[in-house]
Amino acid sequence: EWTPQLIQDEIDALKDKPGALLPILHAIQDRVGFIPDQAVPLIASSLGQTRAEIHGVISFYHHFRTSPPGSHVVRICRAEACQSMGARALEAHARASLAIDYHQTTGDREITLEAVYCLGNCACAPSVSVDDRVLGRVTPERFDRLVDDLRT
Ligand code: FES
Repeated sequence: EWTPQLIQDEIDALKDKPGALLPILHAIQDRVGFIPDQAVPLIASSLGQTRAEIHGVISFYHHFRTSPPGSHVVRICRAEACQSMGARALEAHARASLAIDYHQTTGDREITLEAVYCLGNCACAPSVSVDDRVLGRVTPERFDRLVDDLRT
């Protein structure tokens, strides 16, 4: 649940810092789960920038989403150690079996798929995080079980 006031509070807490835009976007996404469309004019007027500039930054950084995530956010590590241990095959499998691409949510709104660049779990590559849990040595089979568990 969020209100325009809650968003304005996040903006006001940061707007006087240099380079405030990115911290503001992070703060809103952390608080609300995504950047609502209604936040854009509030940010623009608070920072004295245009809406187009704010939209440009939101769409440039893949980290930001503009619609609510599913019940669970699954992140697949795309950094080097994981890639050398089969992360590419894992991500191809994940996209095919969930039938979504990165930054999308399944039709049942259960799973949002995101990419991440190192989860600090390189020794157990390939790594995946599910909400706040980090899992290692995730094979395609294990990935499917994990998703099944999330859905039950
Ligand atoms: Fe994947 Fe570090 S490279 S966890």
